[in-house]
Amino acid sequence: MVNYEKILKENGQEHLLKYIEMGNKEQKENLISEISKINFNQVNELYKISNKDNEKAIESCLIEHTKFVDKYRISNDEFEKYKNIGENIIKNGEYDVVTMAGGQGRRIGHNGPKGTFLLNVNPKPKYLFEIIADGLKMANEKYGITLNWYIMTSTENNDKTVKFFEEHNYFDYPKNKVKFFKQGNLPLVSEEGKLLVDENLHIKYAADGNGCIYRAMQQGGVLDDMKKNNIKWIFIGSVDNAILNMVDPILLGLTVSDGNKIGSKSVVKRSPQERVGVFCKKNNKPAVIEYTELPTEMANELDEDGELLFGESHIMCNLYSIEALDIISKNQLPYHSAHKKATYLDENGELIKPTKPNAYKYEAFIFDGFTFFDNISILRGRREEDFAPVKNAEGEDSPETAIQLYNNFWKK
Ligand code: UTP
Repeated sequence: MVNYEKILKENGQEHLLKYIEMGNKEQKENLISEISKINFNQVNELYKISNKDNEKAIESCLIEHTKFVDKYRISNDEFEKYKNIGENIIKNGEYDVVTMAGGQGRRIGHNGPKGTFLLNVNPKPKYLFEIIADGLKMANEKYGITLNWYIMTSTENNDKTVKFFEEHNYFDYPKNKVKFFKQGNLPLVSEEGKLLVDENLHIKYAADGNGCIYRAMQQGGVLDDMKKNNIKWIFIGSVDNAILNMVDPILLGLTVSDGNKIGSKSVVKRSPQERVGVFCKKNNKPAVIEYTELPTEMANELDEDGELLFGESHIMCNLYSIEALDIISKNQLPYHSAHKKATYLDENGELIKPTKPNAYKYEAFIFDGFTFFDNISILRGRREEDFAPVKNAEGEDSPETAIQLYNNFWKK
């Protein structure tokens, strides 16, 4: 048996011994087993990145504007060319769609997987998952195909998500074409670098971020499945955009004609202060800078046409060739830390519900996968046609704004 006492002491986590003492026989055994599975080197490395000054990290990089193509400013000939290329791939059955649904949806305050959030749209309310299912069904009808629909869940929400689909008869999407796979998770640590324990005496974990999708697709057999089905191009989108266009032949045609392995849709940033990441070139590679990392001066910089130099928002509308996913999934993306509120059991057995952030969560970001390539095709779309995010309980990017965008889009 592993000497957990020694391991805990060596890694500065001996406080966990108190929780082992606290538990009944079963809880003790569980906790010891959980401890034996922890990668303490990883925990120590993660703790080192906590609370880093992001602006400083950006200052040491070469950040440049990146090119994009405006969907509504391309010539008719080009439009037709891209459309034909894209549609051929789609009709040939070489295209699949993945939905990232492993997030928490904490900001909207919904109790359950975010895709199970009901949006009060016209003519009848629809769940976010239902909106996606309907969008895919329309694409299937249009192109005479049945797209495979892969859904990434997390340890926390997988069972609830699958149950929800069962209860709603998969929203009439062919059940054998819907495939769930799980992302991983990472331990939460306190501000002092200590692992946290919950009220049932389990180590506290959280989903490892949407950037872990690449590895999860590889480990969950999704990439192999796609290769077996001769899939060449894969769209990966978020669960919380009520007008996400998951099957856009123009984005696909543009990426193929550019000879790129990755593509992405953008919309123009509403204002320099909007809380979205923007595309750029970072040390000559395609990248996205988070709003928290973009220095104010750069956020306000204009180009010769008076447009924001860093104004192409990343809206989680990404396209990859199967080779691209293979390449990224073999690499470890960097983790970023987030300062969060985490309820935990203190060493006296008392449940603490903090009122301010008290712990670090570590996440990989999907756009960090772009840096493995020299170029990306960016297609600028329009907010009213491409982006109705449900992020906040109220105000900007809330159910209210998403409903309005959804209703206007479908009225057209
Ligand atoms: P966000 O980070 O914007 O939102 O995820 P969230 O995690 O759902 O909600 P908050 O931050 O707790 O309020 C953007 C997309 O990435 C997915 C989400 O499900 C959403 O589709 N995501 C996020 C994952 O699949 N896994 C993660 O670990 C994080």
